[in-house]
Amino acid sequence: MKKVLLILLALAMVFTLAACNDSEAETPEGADSGNDSGETKVITVSTKFVDDEQTAISLEKVVEAVNERSNGSLELQLFTSGVLPIGKDGMEQIEQGSDWILVEGVNFLGDYVPDYNAVTGPFLYSTFDEYFAMMQTDLVQDLNREIEEEYGIKVLSLDWVFGFRSMMTNEPITSPEDMNGMNIRVPTSQLYTYTIEAMGGNPVSMPYPDTYAAIQQGVIDGVEGSIMTYYGTQQYENVKEYSLTNHLLGVSAVSISTDLWDSLTEEQQTIIVEEFEKGAEDNLVETVKAEEEYEELLKEEGVTFHEVDAAAFLEAAEPVYSKFPQWTPGIYEDILEELEKIKAEQ
Ligand code: G3P
Repeated sequence: MKKVLLILLALAMVFTLAACNDSEAETPEGADSGNDSGETKVITVSTKFVDDEQTAISLEKVVEAVNERSNGSLELQLFTSGVLPIGKDGMEQIEQGSDWILVEGVNFLGDYVPDYNAVTGPFLYSTFDEYFAMMQTDLVQDLNREIEEEYGIKVLSLDWVFGFRSMMTNEPITSPEDMNGMNIRVPTSQLYTYTIEAMGGNPVSMPYPDTYAAIQQGVIDGVEGSIMTYYGTQQYENVKEYSLTNHLLGVSAVSISTDLWDSLTEEQQTIIVEEFEKGAEDNLVETVKAEEEYEELLKEEGVTFHEVDAAAFLEAAEPVYSKFPQWTPGIYEDILEELEKIKAEQ
């Protein structure tokens, strides 16, 4: 009897082992180490851009690529048009360690480390390449280190540009005097507020998604923004004058909390970094391509483009650089020095 029991026990062990081997064989081919636990990490990607804007289109591609490459270990979910927190509220999600990626203006990093505003100040860059080169300098990389160490905000990219910003208003503008008495919407940012003030207008800060109704209600006379913004958000339905001040560069930062970042596997981190890099490139190439096309389409919608007195605006905006006591002393001079080197090399 004892012998029979032993044989039955041995058979049971053989069947159990065979079953284990079978289930291993069924593991999907190519499943990566990022999915060891079999759990899916759901991460919200929040942005102000509307679906028709190139940045949102490129972000959609990033999200798809990350989700596919991670074999189900990551599920990025994109929310456009500011339906979920953006701006300061979006940054708070990152700071609090939520499962969140924010794609927002670099100026919102400036609320934590003020020098970010210095490196994205008015009339600093005349080409996108100058800006990209500046972002690679030690000066800017140190800011990224500082915001990560002090506030737990990891900056994944500063390279999501969407064009130089100009004035879309109901009256043409050629000089700072033309802006007197004009209520111009700006993002909730001291840098933008001071810049528009210095250029002659009355800055009114509000999130971009509120601007369409605000113009129609007469709360504001226009907004400042890139040609992609103008066309993509259909602001041409409200205001028909585009005055080419090119006063600031429209650029988004991609941020994630260090808590969330540290909880990811190395492989997941690599996938996210690589896909957001590819996305920035796609966003850049497509934005540059679309700018000319948008100009034509805007004209067809009845928009008139105006050249401005560039020297007068440059001079008017100069005081902005001395309005920030919170900037590192001498930072503006350091930036100009870096910029000189960049220009000499390009
Ligand atoms: O969709 C809005 C976007 O194009 C610009 O937003 O806040 O940088 O003016 P903002």
